[in-house]
Amino acid sequence: MKRILLISFCISTMCLQNSFAQQIAAGEKIYKANCSACHSIGKGKIVGPDLINVTTRRPTQWLNKFIRSSQALVKSGDPVAVKLFNEHNKIPMPDQTLTDVQLKDILAYIKSKSAPIAPAKTTPKPTEANTSTKPSVKTNTNSPTAAKEKIDWVDAEFALKSYPAKQKINAKELNADFWSTIEALKLPVSPQQATYPTLKNPSVEQLTIKSVYLPKEVAFRIEWNDSSKNNEVDVVKFCDQFAVQFPISLNDIPSYMMGNKGGMVHIVHWKAIWQEDCEKGFQDVQVKYPNMWVDVYPGLESYLDRSKRIYAQDIGAELIVETHATGNMPGTYSNNPMSVIKRKEPVEEAVAEGFGTLATQETQQAKAWAEWKEGKWTLCIVVPVNTGNHYKASFTDRTKVAFALWDGGFQNIGGRKHFVPWIDLLLQK
Ligand code: HEC
Repeated sequence: MKRILLISFCISTMCLQNSFAQQIAAGEKIYKANCSACHSIGKGKIVGPDLINVTTRRPTQWLNKFIRSSQALVKSGDPVAVKLFNEHNKIPMPDQTLTDVQLKDILAYIKSKSAPIAPAKTTPKPTEANTSTKPSVKTNTNSPTAAKEKIDWVDAEFALKSYPAKQKINAKELNADFWSTIEALKLPVSPQQATYPTLKNPSVEQLTIKSVYLPKEVAFRIEWNDSSKNNEVDVVKFCDQFAVQFPISLNDIPSYMMGNKGGMVHIVHWKAIWQEDCEKGFQDVQVKYPNMWVDVYPGLESYLDRSKRIYAQDIGAELIVETHATGNMPGTYSNNPMSVIKRKEPVEEAVAEGFGTLATQETQQAKAWAEWKEGKWTLCIVVPVNTGNHYKASFTDRTKVAFALWDGGFQNIGGRKHFVPWIDLLLQK
């Protein structure tokens, strides 16, 4: 009798363990799709608090209620919910429609990730670093072997897959046939609230993204809803923008927030005002204010045709640049990317290693094109990679990628933006 009891006890514990593992796996999927944009487990605050040990910190019933609708709890006056809400600048956590089983699974996953990490975790294969292709890489970065193990590759389920391109990628062909054959990933975007200026109210919820690659470039086709096309140059108006970001080296993954000291990121940044310049020519003040009037541009009269006075309506910026930009338009003359008048690409390639360090790249190779139609932007960005340039991304079969999105109609500018933190970009064979 005793033995039978013992056997049945063992079987039931085994079953329990098995179902617990399944729960964790199921929970991980839901967590990565719905929670990971705002929460980490043991890596600090993102938009919401670090969820490490939250299952021991809070009663399960409370967690269930809070996750389903934190605002309902806040409104009911629950002191913990109110305190959390106030501590997070009154950013409401979006309601989550989850079944009882899904909630259980998520909490099981959070609990499993809160436990001390077992040392036997699998480490990435040594081929993942790209140092061998870049012999001249700076040696002041961390030792590649020690650092490689730090890379936290997430599961392929929440990664962006990039497929080999069968032909040259032309960013302007936004609706080229091949795009319809590429699998799309829907990514939730979050409002940036870690540093000022923050975005209080997000106006975009998600983006739909596809990717293809060639040996030296990765292309993204991105779609997002935006009720207004904002591409005007004017005071107190901001334009729609989008950016793609890569770590330059995989030796140590930099902060997804524009990198960190010693951890540079390669950024490709598209701007709707530049798109307009490319499509219609330089958007000068006269375009916005056709009735503006300046009697005479001093100096210009004598440069051009001494016999004739040149009036403002006769001259555009291009004419000044071609004649005597040195004195009047030094930014344009010296090719400052902000002052380019004959713009060929609506993107800027930049490099950063932390907030406030964004700098234009010396070589501009990225290409992009976008179209706004019926409340939706469609954008294609082609990023040069593996070029041998120390300030540009290089990798072999996978890397990390992050995105940022500005809705000009909702005053998005600088840090006041939507973002997607690092996700894995997997180059498919
Ligand atoms: C858009 C961002 C966002 C998403 C997505 C999100 N949360 Fe939150 N979460 C927050 C914020 C912000 C708070 C802080 C409370 C507040 O401001 O209402 C929070 C608080 C919490 C708390 C309370 C933590 C504590 O210390 O008591 C839990 C638990 C939680 N979230 C779980 C989840 C789970 C599980 C998911 C996915 C199903 C999720 N959250 C998705 C933003 C988010």
